[in-house]
Amino acid sequence: MLIRTLRTALIALCLPALAHADEPDLDNGRDINGTCAACHGENGQGGKQGEYPRIAGQSAKFIEFTLKSFRARERINLPMFPYTQDRELPDEDIRDIAAYLAAIELPTKPPKFKDSDDALTRLTAMQKVMIIPRVEGDIAAGKAIFEERCTTCHGDDGRGKRIVPMLTGQYTNYLMRQMQSFQAGERPHDEETPGEGVLKGLKEAELQNMLAYITTLQNTEDK
Ligand code: HEC
Ligand code: HEC
Repeated sequence: MLIRTLRTALIALCLPALAHADEPDLDNGRDINGTCAACHGENGQGGKQGEYPRIAGQSAKFIEFTLKSFRARERINLPMFPYTQDRELPDEDIRDIAAYLAAIELPTKPPKFKDSDDALTRLTAMQKVMIIPRVEGDIAAGKAIFEERCTTCHGDDGRGKRIVPMLTGQYTNYLMRQMQSFQAGERPHDEETPGEGVLKGLKEAELQNMLAYITTLQNTEDK
């Protein structure tokens, strides 16, 4: 009897902990982000014109999946590999940092500055804004290919979902580099055989046209 009461009490004590075991810990996510910030920026906004991609606002599923594929070397990322090793980044930490980054909403409009704001304040604030400059290219031709080959997964608005990443709002240079690495079979995309996927055979000008179209999908003042 006593033992049963004790057991019940113990189970009751453990229940709250169990109920929260799967909930991401956003404070832990913020701590981990200190490491990521060195390259991706404090708000996951990326930097160096896309050498470091934006990671804020990607879905938690994509971030988790990506960190695990870096860790397993299915997707090769030399600068990040040491940070993704199990000792550095166990599964719970991956869950927490993914939830933390996914919840960051970068502004889609430039802020209104005060006259007293100095150049550095302005620059720092502008780097967080999710607006990628328009790029050269045939927008109509890019739209046609994108709608034919890409929107089934990346969405009409290019924002992706679950493990399909957002393209809209991502640095153009970064996207070009990724597409070329898909074509070269260096990074897995949608295909079984490396390099044999949906981007196969597209010329650089066609990739450029799609990028030009993607920059038109961002939020604009009137949205
Ligand atoms: C030493 C610099 C560095 C650090 C630190 C770093 N990253 Fe990265 N990260 C990169 C680079 C470079 C790339 C782009 C690799 C490529 O071109 O494929 C990248 C790519 C990514 C991507 C893929 C984004 C996409 O859209 O494909 C994710 C997600 C990511 N990093 C998350 C993180 C997280 C989370 C942390 C902290 C735990 C972190 N990174 C720390 C350099 C870094
Ligand atoms: C069958 C679904 C599917 C289709 C169709 C598809 N994609 Fe993807 N795409 C994905 C997935 C999944 C990923 C993430 C792959 C990974 O990291 O392993 C991805 C990643 C990307 C990335 C890298 C983005 C980043 O942040 O790392 C680019 C660029 C891209 N796709 C462009 C395209 C373009 C352009 C097309 C059309 C020509 C296209 N995709 C069609 C599923 C798809």
